[in-house]
Amino acid sequence: MAAAPTPPVTLVIFGATGDLTRRLLVPAIINLTQSGLVGDDLHILGVGIEPGDDAMLVARLDSFLSELDDGGAHRKSEGWQRLRERISYIAGDFTKDDIFIQIKTRLATASSGNAAFYLAVPPQFFGTLVEKLAEHGLTTEGDGSFRRIAIEKPFGTDLASARALNARILSRVAESQVYRLDHFLGKETVQNILTARFANMMIEALWNNNYIDHVQITAAEVVDVGSRGKFYDATGALRDMVPNHLFQLLAMIAMEAPNGFGAEAIRTEKSKALSALRISTPDEATTHAVRGAYTAGAVDGNSVTAFRETKDVSPDSKTETFVALKLYVDTWRWAGVPFYLRTGKAMTARDTEIVVTFRQVPFAQFRETGIKRSLPPNKMVIQVQPDEGLSIELSIKSPGLSVDTVPVSLDFRYADKFDIGKMTGYESLLYDLFIGDQTLFQRADGIEAGWAAVQPFLDAWAKSGEVPEPYAPASMGPACADDLIRRDGRQWHELGVSIHNQAKGIK
Ligand code: BG6
Repeated sequence: MAAAPTPPVTLVIFGATGDLTRRLLVPAIINLTQSGLVGDDLHILGVGIEPGDDAMLVARLDSFLSELDDGGAHRKSEGWQRLRERISYIAGDFTKDDIFIQIKTRLATASSGNAAFYLAVPPQFFGTLVEKLAEHGLTTEGDGSFRRIAIEKPFGTDLASARALNARILSRVAESQVYRLDHFLGKETVQNILTARFANMMIEALWNNNYIDHVQITAAEVVDVGSRGKFYDATGALRDMVPNHLFQLLAMIAMEAPNGFGAEAIRTEKSKALSALRISTPDEATTHAVRGAYTAGAVDGNSVTAFRETKDVSPDSKTETFVALKLYVDTWRWAGVPFYLRTGKAMTARDTEIVVTFRQVPFAQFRETGIKRSLPPNKMVIQVQPDEGLSIELSIKSPGLSVDTVPVSLDFRYADKFDIGKMTGYESLLYDLFIGDQTLFQRADGIEAGWAAVQPFLDAWAKSGEVPEPYAPASMGPACADDLIRRDGRQWHELGVSIHNQAKGIK
């Protein structure tokens, strides 16, 4: 079914001269305009602290677009030529009332009463902004028009702050007006997890603890902390990636079948899965989690400064740039199946993947054959990025007179089948924001359930005061991560080696 164009709307972006707006939001809107999903009735009203007028913002965006690594495609596009005519700007301090009075005046003259407020600002402003918008009557929906608020991550820094922020926001606006973003949900492969599971009997039928041994969820990055030292030292790998991005992947793997593909049905099942995450005891919190911080070295020929020597990072920082966890989802379906999660910076390869390892077949019947050891378990690898796709690893008989097996993999790569073009990942999120579909956005209870599951780890580390274990850049992370999984007689899936490449012998 082809997607219908969005209704008329004014997109009010707080933080309009910032990185997110120029790198992702505007290119995504250009892509939506190009594909006809967003029409000339979308207006952008930028708000920012930098002095300037409409022409300044347009000129700014124009020059950012020319720096994109797309051969000038976005800047030269017809979509941008049309969109630039509909961009305006208000400069000022958005903790003061004046800005909101100006926004109100602009919206009053807009062709429709619909507005989406996008908070692309540091998180300490989220609560204040929502309050100010509400105080000025800007969140009041009337005459069939909508008022929505899109909030970027991080949503809270621990369970208490996430709860407090939800309470503050929901005392002013309804949950149906709040769109909490997690950009992983904009990725095609992530959205495909539900279809892969629920549109395929042969996958869903095996999707439980009778057949699955364990699940690994990895988000490995080659980039280091770079210029984000201040933010990262206060945040760390766990807060930055786990309760949001990795838990979104986990929820899609672990959730029960929704009653339908509507937003509430899906969000309810995801929240149920997240609230079934076992809350680790203080002992488990120390044994089921390990941390690392990268030292000096190089990744892909680029030198890497040790995390603790990075600009704006304290030299005796105890912040982790790598974390690995073992978690359990305490439902009937997943009882006893460990979920191993890991994420880190400056690692050997960029690789976001979910590996579902099935139980081993009984070996007895092969004893008399040439197969001397146990058979490798089947695996399903959902390759989120790069090289988006899905593979299933099986054992088959190797040709010949004796019975012997070789592992083979059935591979599907998006790029082989579809032209997925150069999407930013924000297209579907913005489109859904405009049409009012909250499926790809996080609900308050899901966010709080995620924080509740990581809180014991934060508490354990704060109490122990231990320094994360060093690891070399371009590695698979610290040795303690291998120990975490090896103790259970398992091992991590090798990074950067998709099954597709493995089969071809390419690294
Ligand atoms: C962000 C984190 O939310 O996600 C970053 O703050 C991280 O530290 C990024 O690099 C990863 O996103 P992606 O889409 O590049 O995998």
